[in-house]
Amino acid sequence: MMVETTAPPPSSRLNYKRLELKRCLPAFLSSHKTLFALLWIAAFASVFLWKRNPIGAGFAVFWRGPLRPMPQLRPVAFNLTDFGAVGDGVTVNTEAFERAVSAISKLSKRGGGQLNVPPGRWLTAPFNLTSHMTLFLAEGAVILGIQDEKYWPLMPALPSYGYGREHPGPRYGSLIHGQNLRDVVITGHNGTIDGQGQTWWKKYRQKLLNHTRGPLVQIMWSRDIVFTNITLRDSPFWTLHPYDCKNVTIRNVTILAPIFEAPNTDGIDPDSCEDMVIEDCYISVGDDAIAIKSGWDQYGIAYGRPSTNILIRNLVVRSMVSAGISIGSEMSGGVSNVTVENLLVWNSRRAVRIKTAPGRGGYVRHITYRNLTFDNVRVGIVIKTDYNEHPDEGYDPNAVPILGDISFTGIHGQGVRVPVRIHGSQEIPVRNVTFRDMSVGLTYKKKHIFQCAYVQGRVIGTVFPAPCENLDRYDEQGKLVKRSVSQNLTDIDYDF
Ligand SMILES: *[C@@H]1O[C@H](CO)[C@@H](O)[C@H](O)[C@H]1NC(C)=O
Ligand SMILES: *[C@@H]1O[C@H](CO)[C@@H](O)[C@H](O)[C@H]1NC(C)=O
Ligand SMILES: *[C@@H]1O[C@H](CO)[C@@H](O)[C@H](O)[C@H]1NC(C)=O
Ligand SMILES: *[C@@H]1O[C@H](CO)[C@@H](O)[C@H](O)[C@H]1NC(C)=O
Ligand SMILES: *[C@@H]1O[C@H](CO)[C@@H](O)[C@H](O)[C@H]1NC(C)=O
Ligand SMILES: *[C@@H]1O[C@H](CO)[C@@H](O)[C@H](O)[C@H]1NC(C)=O
Ligand SMILES: *[C@@H]1O[C@H](CO)[C@@H](O)[C@H](O)[C@H]1NC(C)=O
Ligand SMILES: *[C@@H]1O[C@H](CO)[C@@H](O)[C@H](O)[C@H]1NC(C)=O
Ligand SMILES: *[C@@H]1O[C@H](CO)[C@@H](O)[C@H](O)[C@H]1NC(C)=O
Ligand SMILES: *[C@@H]1O[C@H](CO)[C@@H](O)[C@H](O)[C@H]1NC(C)=O
Ligand SMILES: *[C@@H]1O[C@H](CO)[C@@H](O)[C@H](O)[C@H]1NC(C)=O
Repeated sequence: MMVETTAPPPSSRLNYKRLELKRCLPAFLSSHKTLFALLWIAAFASVFLWKRNPIGAGFAVFWRGPLRPMPQLRPVAFNLTDFGAVGDGVTVNTEAFERAVSAISKLSKRGGGQLNVPPGRWLTAPFNLTSHMTLFLAEGAVILGIQDEKYWPLMPALPSYGYGREHPGPRYGSLIHGQNLRDVVITGHNGTIDGQGQTWWKKYRQKLLNHTRGPLVQIMWSRDIVFTNITLRDSPFWTLHPYDCKNVTIRNVTILAPIFEAPNTDGIDPDSCEDMVIEDCYISVGDDAIAIKSGWDQYGIAYGRPSTNILIRNLVVRSMVSAGISIGSEMSGGVSNVTVENLLVWNSRRAVRIKTAPGRGGYVRHITYRNLTFDNVRVGIVIKTDYNEHPDEGYDPNAVPILGDISFTGIHGQGVRVPVRIHGSQEIPVRNVTFRDMSVGLTYKKKHIFQCAYVQGRVIGTVFPAPCENLDRYDEQGKLVKRSVSQNLTDIDYDF
């Protein structure tokens, strides 16, 4: 196991402020007198503010300083409290959210409406969004998902999965949900949507649930969707799940869940989506930070909607259980034209992974990875073709996926155990893989750490560590130096 650290490495620009704070705090608090005085002032002031503002917003205001005015981004803006909501963390505010959404749905012809969520802890059961809506979370605003599953409506299985991901039949819906929408924005001054997933993870482990857990935010069959300047945390299941959507932007979003024992808390799962940008995000969760998908085996093949034109850049991610950026394993509708650039993966099990299996069908192609940094990662680049999880026995084992046209340029880092493990097979060979400008610092200086099987492709210029024999060698000018005669050589060692 790797060393546990709470702060990202200093190389992460996004988090350098946090580090600064960490360095300054201990010195400041070292004097007991200072601490005592601070506590006194805190207690006094919070009582004072509590009285002035009985809805509980006082706490948030006190802890976070004066409330930043919320910008008006739509012709009409509502305050959640106008609909009777109480931000005390106890009152269930589902009806207030529903009334607000209903009011906004009547404004669609006039540019839509904005719902401001003020500081406070706004407990709610799942509710639906509407088109032409902006949900604005103030600094200190937290939307809390109710933990009792009785409040979570069941929905039909996703057509491209044919199955709730964990149980047959219907599945729980998401805390914040939308179907057939246009022009939806979820933004704010870094307010939070908190799924309070702890009870769900526990019940899942104890096998007390009869249905697949719900995502935190799920938007289906929609377009022109924007998520920015917010924090999403502790989702019961996948955190942000855009399903069969077009034109989705996710920018400057923080996604958090415990790195262990928060099962399936993927950060973002673009699923049969087209034209997506994910940028400037920090993601540290209990499963894949991002997993691009497009349906599962025979159901995904029948649904036939690929994920395509996806740009992922300027991210800092962490995954101790799975990988930073994954494609698959459900990719039966196909995945193509994905670019991942300027990515830092730190203290993780795997950095980038493509996973699939016979039965999936579909394809993964035109995938470009550029400027990736691995910092203390066990396995850097992984392609796995025997990820044998199937919805039921109805899959076609002859439906083999096609993998190819994958390039890796500018791969650097340190503390990596196995930099590359591309495990193609006779049925699913990996074609046309390119490595260029790669030099990765290793944990152990062993041979066979650039592991390959059934891979065809090339290395251009010098690559460290020494690449596998399966790949052709080219010089920096792109001239063939040596053609490989052993593309199907198998040198894979999972023990290492
Ligand atoms: C929303 O209403 C609450 C309670 O009335 C109030 O404290 C807050 O200032 C309002 N916020 C906005 C942005 O109007
Ligand atoms: C949300 O909308 C979907 C689709 O219209 C519907 O099936 C579901 O019942 C709605 N959920 C809630 C909580 O209203
Ligand atoms: C990201 O969001 C935070 C919090 O809302 C904000 O302070 C910051 O300026 C945003 N950064 C960018 C680049 O938008
Ligand atoms: C937003 O809030 C989260 C959680 O509190 C924090 O980790 C993150 O650094 C904040 N983001 C910005 C840009 O301030
Ligand atoms: C699951 O089903 C069993 C048997 O029908 C039932 O006793 C239990 O309450 C159900 N659990 C949940 C969380 O719905
Ligand atoms: C994508 O969505 C954004 C936000 O709604 C919108 O401004 C933009 O025009 C959309 N782009 C296209 C090509 O529809
Ligand atoms: C995110 O926050 C930054 C800084 O406050 C702001 O410039 C930007 O417009 C915000 N993004 C959106 C979509 O509100
Ligand atoms: C590939 O995706 C990018 C966005 O990341 C887009 O600009 C480009 O047009 C797409 N290429 C093709 C051939 O569709
Ligand atoms: C490479 O990515 C890192 C972030 O991981 C960024 O700081 C750096 O500027 C990027 N380099 C280039 C040439 O874009
Ligand atoms: C191999 O993949 C690269 C992209 O990585 C692409 O530009 C090239 O056309 C592909 N070659 C063949 C023969 O398909
Ligand atoms: C390697 O295996 C693939 C398919 O599994 C086959 O098409 C190819 O001819 C083999 N190459 C060599 C050099 O044997």
